[in-house]
Amino acid sequence: MDTNKRPETMERIATKELADAFIAEQIAAVKEQVGDKKVLLALSGGVDSSVVAALLIKAIGKQLVCVHVNHGLMRKGESEQVIEVFRNQLDANLIYIDATDRFLDLLKDVSEPEKKRKIIGGEFIKVFDEEASKLEGISFLAQGTIYPDILESDGVKAHHNVGGLPEDMQFELVEPVKLLFKDEVRVVGKALGLPASMVDRQPFPGPGLGVRCLGAITRDRLHALREADAILREEFDNAGLNEKVWQYFIAVPDMKSVGVKNDKRYEGWPAIIRAVNTTDAMSATIEEIPYALLHKITARITAEVEGINRVLYDLTPKPVGTIEWE
Ligand code: XMP
Repeated sequence: MDTNKRPETMERIATKELADAFIAEQIAAVKEQVGDKKVLLALSGGVDSSVVAALLIKAIGKQLVCVHVNHGLMRKGESEQVIEVFRNQLDANLIYIDATDRFLDLLKDVSEPEKKRKIIGGEFIKVFDEEASKLEGISFLAQGTIYPDILESDGVKAHHNVGGLPEDMQFELVEPVKLLFKDEVRVVGKALGLPASMVDRQPFPGPGLGVRCLGAITRDRLHALREADAILREEFDNAGLNEKVWQYFIAVPDMKSVGVKNDKRYEGWPAIIRAVNTTDAMSATIEEIPYALLHKITARITAEVEGINRVLYDLTPKPVGTIEWE
């Protein structure tokens, strides 16, 4: 039997009952596979790895070792949420590595987008590998592979995912959600008790804010981007747009314009809002955000975020514009 093929008889998991049955089944399967051995998981805080972590904690508890690498390019509060949920609430064996300086030092003065992606992906593997080699007795590697990853034989996800691991790592894989579609992973995550803010999270590129802090990343501009993005997310949440819009974020280009603040000349960067709807990310349309909300977001960002003096709304569908700016 091809274990990478979803049986045609498998029902789409859309209810808590079906999710609970799936969870019970997977707990038994994981226990059987792993026995009393240890399992390592790169926990990014994204939906897939979070659900795998929660499932494995239920199945094998402290035999699971989660490693969360903060590359310094996370959105505001994300690494803190990983620690709060997994270490404090679920009592996971969690290793937290703040590698911000390593990543930002390497990225200094690098403006070419693909080069930035390569540096971030390569360094991620290095940091994870270093941590893994410090641990003893690890026999398995857990991964948040989902069914579309298997179906996408062109390897899009492999290219996209920062969490790609070194090929010489000799671990047997544990992939409990590999036959599930994204919507099913979310239902299972909710049944496992993960917070909605984690399970319903919008897609976030592996290189994180690195591809939204356009050109060569500086700490001050990255900080401004993170703060502006947090305001955008908060306002979209309050307006209920988080449930309606597929992906929304801020990009901050490496250019300044003149402005006035407190009656003085104030040079700052523009914050560009992008809010798109799509089903497959291959093409995307622009969400019609109410003007009143755009004005409110503009007022907040320009008042609260140091370094930003204009807010722009990107009206370009994909094609021609890609979703990300880099
Ligand atoms: P584009 O910009 O190509 O994005 O229209 C399509 C979707 O893919 C995400 N994206 C990435 N995801 N690593 C990722 O994991 C990347 O390097 C990357 N680049 C784009 C993007 O956020 C959108 O959802």
